[in-house]
Amino acid sequence: MAHGSSIIADISLAPWGRKEIEIAETEMPGLMACRAEFGEEKPLKGARISGSLHMTIQTAVLIETLRELGAELRWASCNIFSTQDHAAAAIAETGIPVFAVKGETLEEYWTYTDQIFQWEDGEPTNMILDDGGDATMYILLGARAEEGEDVLSNPGNEEEEILFAQIKKRMAETPGFFKRQRDAIRGVTEETTTGVNRLYQLQNKGLLPFPAINVNDSVTKSKFDNKYGCKESLVDGIRRATDVMMAGKVAIVCGYGDVGKGCAQSLVGAGARVKVTEVDPICALQAAMDGFEVVTLDDAGPDADIVVTTTGNKDVITLDHMRKFKDMAIVGNIGHFDNEIQVSALRNLQWTNVKPQVDMITFPDGKRILLLSEGRLLNLGNATGHPSFVMSASFTNQVLAQIELWTRPQNYENKVYVLPKHLDEKVARLHLDKLGAKLSTLSAEQAAYIGVSTEGPFKPDHYRY
Ligand code: NAI
Repeated sequence: MAHGSSIIADISLAPWGRKEIEIAETEMPGLMACRAEFGEEKPLKGARISGSLHMTIQTAVLIETLRELGAELRWASCNIFSTQDHAAAAIAETGIPVFAVKGETLEEYWTYTDQIFQWEDGEPTNMILDDGGDATMYILLGARAEEGEDVLSNPGNEEEEILFAQIKKRMAETPGFFKRQRDAIRGVTEETTTGVNRLYQLQNKGLLPFPAINVNDSVTKSKFDNKYGCKESLVDGIRRATDVMMAGKVAIVCGYGDVGKGCAQSLVGAGARVKVTEVDPICALQAAMDGFEVVTLDDAGPDADIVVTTTGNKDVITLDHMRKFKDMAIVGNIGHFDNEIQVSALRNLQWTNVKPQVDMITFPDGKRILLLSEGRLLNLGNATGHPSFVMSASFTNQVLAQIELWTRPQNYENKVYVLPKHLDEKVARLHLDKLGAKLSTLSAEQAAYIGVSTEGPFKPDHYRY
């Protein structure tokens, strides 16, 4: 439904959303500290932020924090299944334009992404807050097309065709739109591993037209959200989708990076017998020494009850793998994009929708699998993503990154940066009290002995945590 300029599922959900936002605020000390520290000064005054990040309750607290710091905002989800409609309603009710509906189509997804750049006065966006890089890609692809580059032909798949159609529509309706947006953008802050990979690829090809802050590689983001967040939200998603008994079951986690480590722990916590696949010998060795059998999906797939991919890579669970899975194996992805599982190759099989975001797919021989969220990230599609507390750490990094790029553009070239370590440590510090953690302090002699300052940073940049 339309509400003001917003497009959301149902505005009557706003009071419920508001109550949950108030609860989340009590679990998001980093964001609340940003409001206390910067609320009066309004460092984001003048910033017009186009946000593309899962429209959840936690994101609502981020949005309202950015607004309190002076920013104007327009928001869309970065995934068709991840919106919490009550959160979207609560934000729409405040008058901030939001374009997000759980279960929106891909056409709607790209229309909504376009909408976050359509300010009412017709002036362009000057900051992007991105998760996965779609908002950034939308503007940059469009701008290259406007400059006459042939970037909109030969789409590889149906999804790209839908994106290209949206770009062509905007080019026809508003000539020069993309170049104008691109040239007005002071910077982008990127939330996740996959989006950050895209940014480094742009930088390496000399195609990044503004500075970017890689929020993902703040220690207080990837070593917390990706790991401890997935530790809680992976099993939550599988349970809400299937109610399956996990204890005793064989589960395979593909990929043992930050997300994979959290997912493996999540399944261990539920009593599953967990195996891991990896391509990187370092991560494979970590998995083995954490006590997991390291296998290949070819060998171990046929014995698994649950298979989850966490790699950020494509074609990790193939049609051939799935043909050999057990009857009623549960198959899901928690990486950013849906191409980790070859879902398009399943489309001509028999699909039985069990409930939203849960499908039973029957193979010609009668064997069935349960596919979660059509292969899109299942913790946000089948559950509600990570808990507030860990998202507070991620989003405090986002707020600090937005302030950095907006207020100190002269310090940044058109490259990808991470936040300095003292800010990373600050984010962690802001989350200690809530857990009753008491820090020890270094004496001047101790600090001198290990070569740091008593106030930090406590580690060199190459330290890996
Ligand atoms: P990472 O780079 O730390 O880990 C990915 C791992 O997968 C690497 O160790 C890599 O060697 C391995 N890998 C790559 N191809 C493989 C293959 N074919 N088979 C087995 N292993 C393979 O990345 P991270 O931070 O763990 O993120 C993974 C994905 O999850 C990304 O797409 C990221 O954007 C997404 N993400 C999702 C979240 C969620 O809430 N659903 C939260 C955070 C990140």
